[in-house]
Amino acid sequence: MPKKPTILIAGATGSIGNAAALALTKRDARVVLLGRRADKLNAKADRIRGSRTGADVATLVVDFSDMDSVRSAADDALGRFPTIDGLVLSVGAFIQGGPHLLPNGHEVMFATNVIGPFLFTNLLLERLEQSSGLLLHVIAPFDEALNWNDLESLEEHRPMAAFNRTKVCNRLIAGEFARRYARRVPSVAFNPTFVLDKSDPELKNRWPSGFSGIVWRLMAIFRAKPPEVAGEPLAELMLDEGRSSIDGALFVLDKRSGEPDTVMSDEATGRRLWERLEQLTEPAPR
Ligand SMILES: NC(=O)c1ccc[n+]([C@@H]2O[C@H](COP(=O)([O-])OP(=O)(O)OC[C@H]3O[C@@H](n4cnc5c(N)ncnc54)[C@H](OP(=O)(O)O)[C@@H]3O)[C@@H](O)[C@H]2O)c1
Repeated sequence: MPKKPTILIAGATGSIGNAAALALTKRDARVVLLGRRADKLNAKADRIRGSRTGADVATLVVDFSDMDSVRSAADDALGRFPTIDGLVLSVGAFIQGGPHLLPNGHEVMFATNVIGPFLFTNLLLERLEQSSGLLLHVIAPFDEALNWNDLESLEEHRPMAAFNRTKVCNRLIAGEFARRYARRVPSVAFNPTFVLDKSDPELKNRWPSGFSGIVWRLMAIFRAKPPEVAGEPLAELMLDEGRSSIDGALFVLDKRSGEPDTVMSDEATGRRLWERLEQLTEPAPR
């Protein structure tokens, strides 16, 4: 691990990504904040620099729902960062109503949460491999059966169920990365439990509607912890020297889970999803 490792954070303007960025700069890593809005990214970067003298922070604009943007951001990253020592995937969108079909033919939540991060990671794999860069998937332990005839939840679309399916896909892909790139690009899943930045002015736009929304609000009041509860152990993991020994593991905050995650270890479904995502991201990443 170099003295100042370069860690890319997808979803850096969100609660967990921002907390991870702060915790990583505190540990003298160079962080690259990835997000879809340049103004928001720059504001976050300035705040981090203001909170820590000498913080090394760069930004990279990418819209994960748009595969052209993902490809061009990956090219940009490869051109700008000669070594990439880690990639945090903490991008996620929950969108009301729907299905929302994008001009590229994908459903917006599926594209943002699953296809875009899959493509971006694949485009950076070689560079990650050169430094045994750690791939960390922020996951949620939600369960919802996948429908292979309607993987993107276009036909049968209840927002919470559609969102949960994307979360199942994240766990499947986390497990599949670990199997396919065993030790070359160590891959771990990280469950942040329930954290929330209650000062986020955009929070009200992120809640589900109806009964789920009431449950989320009550959980937020009684159960949510501040984002740094996740950011600190996430940063520790990203800078762990023994990365190959944690390949394929699931962490719940700073605790490595003793039990394998049933979704992550489902080889047949993981392979099937990987192959479907390869088809959806043609031409092949490289
Ligand atoms: N918070 C929790 O308790 C918890 C628990 C388990 C799992 N997770 C998962 O962890 C991830 C991060 O959670 P969080 O609480 O930090 O969520 P968040 O605050 O809502 O942040 C989500 C991040 O994703 C970004 N994003 C959304 N759509 C995008 C797009 N099209 N292109 C690029 N970036 C996009 C957001 O950017 P903008 O700022 O531009 O919207 C934001 O940076 C999510 O996948 C979530 O499901 C969270």
